Amino acid sequence: MSGQVLPSQAEAGCRIIPFADHGLKKAPPLIRLRGIGKSFGPLRVLANVDLQVQAGEITALIGSSGCGKSTLLNILAGLDTQDHGTYTLAESKNSEKAGRQRVAYMFQEDRLLPWRTVRDNVALGLEAARIEKKERLCRVYNMLKLVGLEEFAGAFPYQLSGGMRSRAALARSLVVEPEVLLLDEPFSKLDSQTRSQMHAELLNIHAVTGMTAVFVTHDVEEAVVLADKVAIFAPRPGRITEIVPVELARPRSLLDKNVTEQIRSLRGKLCFNPHPSPPPDDSAPAEGAGLHVSPLKGGITGKGCRASPGVKRESL
Ligand SMILES: Nc1ncnc2c1ncn2[C@@H]1O[C@H](COP(=O)(O)OP(=O)(O)OP(=O)(O)O)[C@@H](O)[C@H]1O
Ligand SMILES: [Mg+2]
Repeated sequence: MSGQVLPSQAEAGCRIIPFADHGLKKAPPLIRLRGIGKSFGPLRVLANVDLQVQAGEITALIGSSGCGKSTLLNILAGLDTQDHGTYTLAESKNSEKAGRQRVAYMFQEDRLLPWRTVRDNVALGLEAARIEKKERLCRVYNMLKLVGLEEFAGAFPYQLSGGMRSRAALARSLVVEPEVLLLDEPFSKLDSQTRSQMHAELLNIHAVTGMTAVFVTHDVEEAVVLADKVAIFAPRPGRITEIVPVELARPRSLLDKNVTEQIRSLRGKLCFNPHPSPPPDDSAPAEGAGLHVSPLKGGITGKGCRASPGVKRESL
């Protein structure tokens, strides 16, 4: 599946996904979170979360279960709102196009509608945007081809394997040509071989579209293989304790010693930094206030170190 490319415009008979601006490291960030705080009743879930994501960048959020990663994605998706702080999604010249969604969300569960075929599931967002049928079919076809599901366009979800369902869900998220794709543990239910295939597919699509992606994972290898930077979360309340850049050439092979070294280093940071000291009150957030590192505080028992709860053991 890896190494696939989009069909040519002539082949597809319609326009293809435009190439978005890519890797504009010096441009203002596309996503800017400042001092984000969120509580559910008495439960303080997020405090002083600061994060900037450049257009075209892939960012991983990693941290223990319950530390607020999905809550943050929900805020990024506009499904929830923060109690404190600001979230800005910068304007872009590409935002106005018909049927284009600024942000798409791929949930952990594929959420395919069982009564719809793969084709019709993928077409959902375009129907909602009232894209005319010819254009819709064209875009759906392109997307199914991109994820290697064109032969299953007429299949129903129950007729697909887990990996194929993930591909269909990915196609459904991408067909609206989002500027930002949010993914919440999207491949966590897949076996490791299929997961690796999905990584290659996602990177291929990223290379073609230049989209910006923010994904949640418990899998350290997945974070290093995919991300340009990894934001490490600590719990109670959830906050980012460190942002680790991953400056390795792609594709990143698990056989490459630089890749394995980065994985080892990231595991060490997660292992030794499960419960850093709480941040200051987020009622008076200051930029960067949520970002502090205390690598040796807490969480260490005996000679070894305790993995953050919820960070899967096999990932550590
Ligand atoms: N709508 C809600 N109402 C009340 N509490 C909520 C709500 N959504 C999340 N929470 C609580 O907020 C905390 C953070 O939840 P969240 O789902 O963001 O964690 P997470 O980091 O994504 O965890 P996991 O890795 O297990 O998916 C949890 O304690 C959860 O119970
Ligand atoms: Mg979650």
